[in-house]
Amino acid sequence: MKSIGKDASLEISGHRVQLRLISQKEIELIRQWRNQDHIRVWFKYAEIISPAKHKAWWEAYQQRDNDLMFIIWQKAQTRPIGTVALYDIDLNAGSAEFGRLLIAAADHRGKGLAQEASQVLIDWARQELSLTRIYLEVHMHNAPAIAIYKKLGFSELGSCGQFFKMKLRFPLGQCR
Ligand SMILES: CC(C)(COP(=O)(O)OP(=O)(O)OC[C@H]1O[C@@H](n2cnc3c(N)ncnc32)[C@H](O)[C@@H]1OP(=O)(O)O)[C@@H](O)C(=O)NCCC(=O)NCCS
Repeated sequence: MKSIGKDASLEISGHRVQLRLISQKEIELIRQWRNQDHIRVWFKYAEIISPAKHKAWWEAYQQRDNDLMFIIWQKAQTRPIGTVALYDIDLNAGSAEFGRLLIAAADHRGKGLAQEASQVLIDWARQELSLTRIYLEVHMHNAPAIAIYKKLGFSELGSCGQFFKMKLRFPLGQCR
């Protein structure tokens, strides 16, 4: 069974953003971002996350070898602006789930930074992890997120409650 490690030095670089694996020092910042009403409403688990619940999540996350969560840094201002993740990574099956995408502050939104962060992560997963399929779930009324995912090449598989399931399959012959 193949597995991945959480290499603390891992950095994935785009034109305007850089992705770095989350570390202990960002955990409280992530909880605060995730608990903002206009952010949490779009996630399947939409409740306020308590410090104790978040600590338990962080401890479990560190034990999982199939879950990579990144802070999105804006290169120009060397500042953390959001998160994105790949989880349920199955190297044998060549598949993963994409999610936990957020851009925290309104003044960073609408600039294409979420799309760029998503694209560089997907490109990296395809090249470095040899993934061939990526899945995600998105709230059916989350128009900005759906717009990004469609531009990245995701297509709808169906719906479950208020969420669309989407899939990105890389064309055969173009993966390493
Ligand atoms: C979803 C989210 C990450 C997008 O961040 P962002 O930085 O604004 O995203 P981008 O600027 O890269 O792209 C947004 C795209 O959505 C489009 N968009 C924005 N509002 C839209 C709307 N109401 N209808 C359709 N498209 C819309 C924008 O035009 C843009 O596309 P363009 O580049 O072609 O113009 C951000 O809104 C967020 O953090 N939301 C809360 C958490 C969340 O919903 N996460 C996703 C969970 S699946």
